[in-house]
Amino acid sequence: MGVVASAPAKVILFGEHFVVYGEPAIVLAMDRRVYVKVENQEDNTLHVRSTNLNLAACFEKNRFRIEQGDPKEARLRFEPVRQVVERIIEEHGASVGLNVEINSTVPVGAGLGSSAAVIAATIVAVSTLLNVKLHKEDVFRLTCEAEKVVHGASSGVDPAIATFGGIILFQMDTGFKPLDLRMDIPLVIGDTGVERSTKAQVEKVKSIMEKYPQIAQLMMNTVREIVLRAMDALKENDLETVGSLMNVNHALLYGVGVSDESLEWLINAARKAGALGAKLTGAGGGGCMIALSNEEKLDRISEAIQNAGGRSFKARKTDEGVRIEQN
Ligand code: MEV
Repeated sequence: MGVVASAPAKVILFGEHFVVYGEPAIVLAMDRRVYVKVENQEDNTLHVRSTNLNLAACFEKNRFRIEQGDPKEARLRFEPVRQVVERIIEEHGASVGLNVEINSTVPVGAGLGSSAAVIAATIVAVSTLLNVKLHKEDVFRLTCEAEKVVHGASSGVDPAIATFGGIILFQMDTGFKPLDLRMDIPLVIGDTGVERSTKAQVEKVKSIMEKYPQIAQLMMNTVREIVLRAMDALKENDLETVGSLMNVNHALLYGVGVSDESLEWLINAARKAGALGAKLTGAGGGGCMIALSNEEKLDRISEAIQNAGGRSFKARKTDEGVRIEQN
């Protein structure tokens, strides 16, 4: 039987990258989830399989054995899973063999927080199976530690939303604040299909920040102002202002070098089709963009993104963070 847990993917509405430098970001959990199933294994090995990525591997003490797909990719993707599973087995006190199966309804490596969602869901599934009691704060902390292995400098924004869900204002030094917003935020997600590494994009921004510290400071001040204004607009249900602030935010992200041609195509197509605003979301350099729209234009924008060469789908916010699906 085993245990199945799931965690939501995320959309950063405002503030990605600058959040790594202490500025605030507004993030929402969306109604697409990653599912992780964990079962006991007879031997003392850890088997990990990702159905979407066609990867499977086995960890046996210090040995790694590939069972399906590219060994390098499997090692990179599964390392944080191995790390959190080992931490929980340590808490459990006795060694056990486990079978971990990952299924995602979210594009992987596309800036939608799939890696944090996989880790959070794995932690909850494994700790439930092994009867290790964890609070949500523990899940958040463990997910942050494992994310650092994959992404290098990481603000913790992805782990926070995968764990707690909803819509949050996130800031590294003050933590996160759930925003009690009743309004709907109709979004279309456009996936460029261009894979990229968050770590490489974060490093690209770092080099610009170090080269032009005064300009970087002004940009950070601007992002803070955008986030504060967006909070007011969201509270007042003023989608037009939210949209135009998304456009300004995108211009700053473009300025620090994390947009690319594939994103610009989709963003322009969405704006032309009547989006209230459009920007890249997450780390950029490919990956995904988001478009905010009035309800009646959602389909037209979705189609325009597809005609421009992207994959698109509509997204809504979800209040639920990581949760148990089956026990
Ligand atoms: C990645 O989803 C968001 C970034 O701001 C990195 C981070 O905050 O850890 C690019």
